[in-house]
Amino acid sequence: MNVYDSGQILKMMHCENYKSTSSFVTADLIIVNTCAIREKAVQKVYSFLGRLRGLKKKNADLIIVVAGCVAQQQGIKLVERFPHIDIVLGTHAVYQLPDLIHEVKIKRHFIVETKMSDHIDEMDSAGNMPAQASEASSEISGFVTIMRGCDNYCTYCVVPYVRGREVSRKPELIVSEIENLVHGGVKEVTLLGQNVNSYGVKEGLTSFPDLLALVNKIKGLDRIRFVTSHPKDLSKQLIEAFGKLDKLCNHIHLPVQSGSNRILKKMNRKYTRESYLEKIEKLRDVSPQIAITTDIIVGFPGETDYDFEQTIDLIKTVRFDGLYAFEYSDRPEVPATRFSDKIVSDIKKERLQSLFKLQANVVSKKHQSLEGRIFPVLIEGTSKKQQKKNSASTSIEICGRTSENRIVNFDCPSHWGLDIDSLKGQIIDIKIEKIFSNSLWGVPIDKQISKAGALN
Ligand code: 5AD
Ligand code: SF4
Repeated sequence: MNVYDSGQILKMMHCENYKSTSSFVTADLIIVNTCAIREKAVQKVYSFLGRLRGLKKKNADLIIVVAGCVAQQQGIKLVERFPHIDIVLGTHAVYQLPDLIHEVKIKRHFIVETKMSDHIDEMDSAGNMPAQASEASSEISGFVTIMRGCDNYCTYCVVPYVRGREVSRKPELIVSEIENLVHGGVKEVTLLGQNVNSYGVKEGLTSFPDLLALVNKIKGLDRIRFVTSHPKDLSKQLIEAFGKLDKLCNHIHLPVQSGSNRILKKMNRKYTRESYLEKIEKLRDVSPQIAITTDIIVGFPGETDYDFEQTIDLIKTVRFDGLYAFEYSDRPEVPATRFSDKIVSDIKKERLQSLFKLQANVVSKKHQSLEGRIFPVLIEGTSKKQQKKNSASTSIEICGRTSENRIVNFDCPSHWGLDIDSLKGQIIDIKIEKIFSNSLWGVPIDKQISKAGALN
C-alpha cells in the first residue's frame, strides 16, 4: 500500500516539475512516507526525521513532508517533536500535496492535514494520471488500489484507525487505471486493499471475483495478483477463480496470524483454525500447485506455550510457501494494548526464532521438489547479484518470477544479445537447476523469445 502511495506521490510531483534524486541530501523536497503497523517501523521514522534536522538548518528552503500512517496518527505531535517538518500529510490527504506545498511556500508556516473522508474520488482522478508522468514507467509490474481502509478491527491492528473505513473504487475506474498501466508497458498488476475479499460489498458494486474476471479480459496484461485476503471472507467463488482465470497467478497471501482458536478469538479474527484449514484444502483442490503464504504474530497477549504449539502445528500442517512473522507490539489506541498477560520480549524472540527455523526447513524441502521442473518466468530485469557486478563482466544474470511468486535467476544466453530492456516483461520457460533459500536458479528452455525484436 505504501509503495503504491509513494508511486502516486511521485507521479503528482513529476507533474509539478519535480524530479527524483538519488540522494536526499541535495533535495529541495523530502517526503517521508511512513508505516505505523508495528513499533519498529515507527522507530525507524523517528530516527530518520531526527537526521533531517541538520539538513533543514543548512537549507531553510528545504520542504519536509511526513505522509502515511504515522502522520495520520500523530498529527500535530509530530511537528511538536520535530519542528523542522513543514507538512504532516494524513492518509486521506495524499492528493492535496501539490496544493499544500504551494501554500507552505507562500505562508512559510507548517500545515497539518489529517482530515478523513468517506469518499475515494480524489484517488480516482489521480490514479488515472498518464503513465508517462511517472519516471518509473519502465516497470513491468504495477500496483493498483481497489479499496482503502478496513472495517474488521482485529484487536492488535492500527489500520482501521489510520486508514479509516472500508471504501471501494468503481470497477470501471480500476479497469481504466490498469489499461493505462498496460499502455505504459506493465505486464503484471497487483490489486491492493486491506481486505480485497470484501471489495464492493458495502457499496453493492461488482464482487471481487467478478472484478478479477473483468481485469482478466484486459488485452496486453499477462498476470494478475492481489493482496491481502482475510480468511473469513475468502469465498467459494474466489477460490474457483484460481481454476478459471488464466491470468490470475497461482499464489495467495492468506494471513492466519495464529494457530490457536483461543488467540484467534482474542484477536477478533472471526474464523477458527479448522475453517482456515478447510479453505486451504479447497484452494489446493482447485489449484494443486498454488503457493500459499501467510502472516503470523507471535507473543500476542496471553499466548501460552500450548497456543504457540498450535501455531507450530498449523505451519507443519499447511506447509506454507512463505511466511512473514512478527513479534506482537502494542499500538496506540488498539484494544490489545490494554490486554493483560503481555508476553516478555525474550519469549517473543525465542518463539519467533523457532518459527523461522521450522519455516526454513519447510521451504528448503519444498524447493528441493522443484528441481528439474520447468516454470514460465516473467522477466523483471537484471538480478541483484548482477547489479553488484562490474560492467566489464561478460555474462548477465537475469531475474524473474514464477506465477507462484518464486524468484528465479538465470544467465542470459550469449545468443540472446545483451539488451535487457527488450527482455523485460517477456515470459519464458526456465528449468530449475539449483535451489537457494530465497530463490531458484535455472536455465532457459531455448527458442522461447520472439516478441520485441532482440531474439529468435
Ligand atoms: N504487532 C505485530 N504484528 C502486527 N501486525 C499487525 N499489527 C501488529 C502488531 N500490533 C502484522 C500482522 C499483519 C501484518 C501486516 O502485520 O501479521 O498481517
Ligand atoms: Fe488490520 Fe487486516 Fe485486521 Fe483490517 S483485517 S484490522 S488491516 S489485520
